[in-house]
Amino acid sequence: MSKVIAITNQKGGVGKTTTALNLSTFLALEKEKILVIDSDPQGNLTSGIGIKKEQMKYGLYDIYAAGVPAREAIIATGIPGLSVITATMDLFGAELDLLEKNERETTLKKVIEPLKKDFKYIMIDCPPSFGLLTLNALVASNSVLVPVQCEYFALEGLSLLIKLLWRIRGSFNEGLDLEGILLTMFNRHISLSKQIADEVRKVFKTKVYDTVIPRNIILAEAPGHGKPVAIYAPNSPGAKAYADLTKEIMNDNTLLI
Ligand SMILES: Nc1ncnc2c1ncn2[C@@H]1O[C@H](COP(=O)(O)OP(=O)(O)OP(=O)(O)O)[C@@H](O)[C@H]1O
Ligand SMILES: [Mg+2]
Repeated sequence: MSKVIAITNQKGGVGKTTTALNLSTFLALEKEKILVIDSDPQGNLTSGIGIKKEQMKYGLYDIYAAGVPAREAIIATGIPGLSVITATMDLFGAELDLLEKNERETTLKKVIEPLKKDFKYIMIDCPPSFGLLTLNALVASNSVLVPVQCEYFALEGLSLLIKLLWRIRGSFNEGLDLEGILLTMFNRHISLSKQIADEVRKVFKTKVYDTVIPRNIILAEAPGHGKPVAIYAPNSPGAKAYADLTKEIMNDNTLLI
């Protein structure tokens, strides 16, 4: 039994990578086997999780472009139970290669299928755009987790994203579910933060996680040390929030095959 979750929002800098990195770490610390796939050519997750260039023989680009078997691209991280498929700048080129393929939106789905028996959760960190990399992630996934920054224009981008998700459900992946909306970078000293959080909850109701991720500088510092916050600063407010989110997600045990 396995669940594939894409972490996506076409808006940049909303906390997708921070969420993918820390959620997958906390899930692994719960003694689950987790695979996190970096599907963003920026490679922020790859470096934030502490993978060095010399450890990377193959990454997601090689899977897309050269048909390298996914198993050969899986790298064990320093965290027991947590494995990663990495991304480098080359991945920008994969989007162009995919354009020339016939089954351009189902490539990642086929790659992930045989891995499902080995991992309880497979998380995909998406880039801040709606190109073929994101489409492949959404077609391969059971559900979508959407981080939303508690700032102006959050709702505008969110309604566009939900419309696109329904289109993908209609055309490519009828089982695609909205896993949940995660409020990120919440600043309790700023009334705008609370206002945005209230508005998002009013519209999306129970689909918004109870857990809110606070703005916490430790979350921004940790990737520079190649460590998730669970290891870098386990008692920080950011680490505690991601630990709470992990529990919320694990309690929702609608796991799919
Ligand atoms: N809760 C937080 N508190 C403080 N800083 C944060 C928090 N979450 C993320 N950051 C920082 O904000 C920046 C953007 O976060 P992140 O990279 O996770 O967003 P993203 O949505 O993946 O961005 P992109 O769209 O470029 O991929 C990073 O520098 C990150 O370290
Ligand atoms: Mg990112």
